[in-house]
Amino acid sequence: MDPAHMRWDTKAVRGPREETDPTTLAHRFPIYQTSTFVFENARQGGQAFSGEVSHYIYTRLGNPTVELLEQKLAQLESTEAGIVFASGMAAIATTLLALVKPGERVVASDPLYGGTFHFFHIAQEHFGIEVHYIKASEFHEKLAEALTPNTRLVYIETPANPTLDIVDIAETAKITRQAGIPLVVDNTFASPALQRPIELGADLVLHSLTKYINGHGDVVGGALVGPRDLIEPIRKDFHVHVGGIMAPLNAFLVLRGTKTLHLRMQRHSENALEVARFLEGHPKVARVFYPGLPSHPQHEVAKKQMKGGFSGMVSFILKGGKEAGIQVMDHVKLWTLAVSLGDTDSLIEHPASMTHSSYSPEELARAGIDPGLVRLSVGIEDVQDLIDDLDQALKYA
Ligand SMILES: Cc1ncc(COP(=O)(O)O)c(C=O)c1O
Repeated sequence: MDPAHMRWDTKAVRGPREETDPTTLAHRFPIYQTSTFVFENARQGGQAFSGEVSHYIYTRLGNPTVELLEQKLAQLESTEAGIVFASGMAAIATTLLALVKPGERVVASDPLYGGTFHFFHIAQEHFGIEVHYIKASEFHEKLAEALTPNTRLVYIETPANPTLDIVDIAETAKITRQAGIPLVVDNTFASPALQRPIELGADLVLHSLTKYINGHGDVVGGALVGPRDLIEPIRKDFHVHVGGIMAPLNAFLVLRGTKTLHLRMQRHSENALEVARFLEGHPKVARVFYPGLPSHPQHEVAKKQMKGGFSGMVSFILKGGKEAGIQVMDHVKLWTLAVSLGDTDSLIEHPASMTHSSYSPEELARAGIDPGLVRLSVGIEDVQDLIDDLDQALKYA
């Protein structure tokens, strides 16, 4: 069946093309664990480099296992081409450096993942790239007035890490399209199983593959996908020379993760909604942040652009503030106290001192990241076990 006619869940399972290895007919595509590829003769080697013949050369320049993942991710995000990277940060850094020059400007949503925020700061200091922030919850309303003639990129993260603020992708895209500025969306928190920004008008989509797409907590990786005319120059001029490539073994593992993404996202979302409802009803909890709750200020926007669930990320603040949050983190028995997210098991962490420790106290306040905020990555265990464990830990808060 032509993948273009497959429904999304079938594409996730079956991939962009027949995975059978053409040489051995192995059902699963092999891990081409090689650094280089042999030429039949010197003339062919030269032709491979000049592009006259299509031939693999060297794994940093292209590898069959890695390419299969790139094609699959592009297809799952409803676009043409993709590049995978050694990490989400490699994808983000390469994209920024490829699209923005010294003296030019990026307009970004606030907050962002702490590593992205830190790198944007470095980009200002070392490369003279100006970064202008707009609060995620009012992003599209304030965007037009922030676009200057030297703005080259609009960069958003939605749902945002760690506040779960939502940026209206379609409304933002209307403005960036009119201005002719590429809109890049970090879709890590939702995954393409729940949200496909390119269908909503965005130009490029970024992922930390480390999270939901791989899904099993055993790979670090990143991806950038979009139309061929935007992706190929980034690959040719930056990616293969900056060199933050993904290893073939990791590409194989991420490919395996994609096959169950739709099932996992459904369960992450169901469990997270239950956990969010439990926390919202708990007397020691001051506030819960989850886009699937009607109390979330952008619940309607989330409903419009996320389909089939609101993902597994929940944050909350306790009435006892940071100290009470620390008690909960120190007393959970089932939840794992660790950063990262999107694994099968449930994780708990403290953004202000961990994932977002690159923010100063003033920057945390501007971004709406309360010092007492606790972030949960709700896994796919039995949700009652997760709630029971939080309940007993909250007694110490
Ligand atoms: C939203 C988001 N984007 C990007 C990254 C960076 O990804 P990586 O850790 O794979 O470099 C993270 C990491 O936590 C993240 O949460």
